[in-house]
Amino acid sequence: MKVIVCKSSDEMSKAAARIFAERIKKKPNIILGLATGGTPVKMYKELIRIHKEEGLDFSNVRSFNLDEYLGITSEHDQSYRYFMNTNLFDHININKANTHVLSGVAKDPAAECKAYEEAIKKAGGIDIQLLGIGGNGHIAFNEPGSAKDSRTRVVDLTKTTIEDNARFFKSANEVPKQALSMGNGTILEAKEIVLIADKTSKADAIAKSIEGSPTEQVPASLLQAHKNTTFVVDKDAASNLKKQYEAPTSGCCGCK
Ligand code: F6R
Repeated sequence: MKVIVCKSSDEMSKAAARIFAERIKKKPNIILGLATGGTPVKMYKELIRIHKEEGLDFSNVRSFNLDEYLGITSEHDQSYRYFMNTNLFDHININKANTHVLSGVAKDPAAECKAYEEAIKKAGGIDIQLLGIGGNGHIAFNEPGSAKDSRTRVVDLTKTTIEDNARFFKSANEVPKQALSMGNGTILEAKEIVLIADKTSKADAIAKSIEGSPTEQVPASLLQAHKNTTFVVDKDAASNLKKQYEAPTSGCCGCK
């Protein structure tokens, strides 16, 4: 795995956005895997800036999001569809029909998950997957203990994830208790993976994921088995790492 330690959260966001921008330029009909949460917001802002100022073209890009809360509609202001529209899709020239987010209100959630897996396959698989990481090491909503070969499915959220995400809702009581989520196995099939993390609240999970033994108890540590994964972290999230890792080169991650 490649690990890039940035000076700040802003630099982390710019470095990760640059990787995505370079991949989109190289393959205009790329299939992106996208994440929500607090961490990617500044990265998406930077992609919007690159689109507006440098003409990065999203017209042929397709995307699949990692997850969605069960039981909330796409219009709900905490749904991940709403998040993606307001934080990225509404500001770039992507065709929304080419953007996929699991439906939180599908009549048959298991069938929704199965169809999602099939749609990813039919599209040719995810070229580059963006991930955040939970304080407990989760990726998407694959909580500790999720099988390494798990597929898109309905999952129960842990108490810590509900508490972490309560900041986006009026109270922890309002956070849905379940979600639909790509599995670890689904994620590991992406051709390239970029995980971003900032803040000291992620330092323990980052150290276990990069320097610990791979274990389903820390789902992000399973990425060690993936051939093309880059962790882009700020110095706070890197603060528990024991080894020295590279810094980004000229605001970019050395990507050509
Ligand atoms: C979101 C997702 C989650 C988040 C993680 C970190 O689509 O899949 O795994 O990436 O919970 O969330 P933030 O960025 O809010 O700390």
